[in-house]
Amino acid sequence: MSENETVEPVIGLIGGSGLYDIDGLEEKEWRTVETPWGLPSDQLLFGRLDGVRCVFLPRHGRGHPIPPSRLNYRANIAAMKISGVTDIVSLSAVGSLKEELPPGHFVVIDQFIDRTIARTKSFFDTGCVAHISMADPLCNRVGDVLKAQADKLGITAVRGGTYLVMEGPQFSTRAESELYRSWGCSVIGMTNMPEASLAREAEICYATVAMVTDYDCWHTEHDNVTVDSVVKTMQANSANAKALIKAAIPALGGKRHSCSAGCDHALEHAIMTAPSV
Ligand code: ADE
Repeated sequence: MSENETVEPVIGLIGGSGLYDIDGLEEKEWRTVETPWGLPSDQLLFGRLDGVRCVFLPRHGRGHPIPPSRLNYRANIAAMKISGVTDIVSLSAVGSLKEELPPGHFVVIDQFIDRTIARTKSFFDTGCVAHISMADPLCNRVGDVLKAQADKLGITAVRGGTYLVMEGPQFSTRAESELYRSWGCSVIGMTNMPEASLAREAEICYATVAMVTDYDCWHTEHDNVTVDSVVKTMQANSANAKALIKAAIPALGGKRHSCSAGCDHALEHAIMTAPSV
């Protein structure tokens, strides 16, 4: 892209449990998007909010039929790319690993520790080898917008925190939960990797709003995490999540030059394979 060219952002939203729609979305249409990596979790919902083009994908499919380890992460991100998405806001339910992050708090993540073991992690697994930088795995530009909008709305949101991505589907043992706490992790969940690294390979800006639903199992004064407790707090969180999305989309819209965080040219120095002659 030349220096004078501008990009009209298309905002992608990937929603977890309990989030199947976007308030105020106009010109709505669910469409099937096929990709070279197969079908994404569900159809994608296309529309506009305040004139800004948006594309929404329910991460686990509507009704939540697909577990974290069986998600086709490559198809989900490829479907976003094919749909023209420039910026992804990922909304994810997580457990808290810190006393000061109680259920109901949002964390705009800035780091990951990836402990997943059973997922295809790259678009570059045959024919062409690429090693992208994941030193700063999330788009700070989008993250800053999300934090600023949360503050404006009076939603308690912390900027920065490490998200431990576990394979699941079982929740952690207490020893694992304590281990991750000793590593300084803030929250734990099952879905953001390889979602974030694939978005980086696809040169799409990606930011995570981690919505705390429980204290995982380390906390002696709280019950161990169960699906019931997660779903109950998720429902309480969803009004804030919807309000935040509604405010963040117009704030992320508006033409811009390249991403100040560099996500949109992540592959520039990443390809190992020699070009064919
Ligand atoms: N998602 C929500 N709460 C969680 C927890 N405690 N562990 C892993 N994933 C979660």
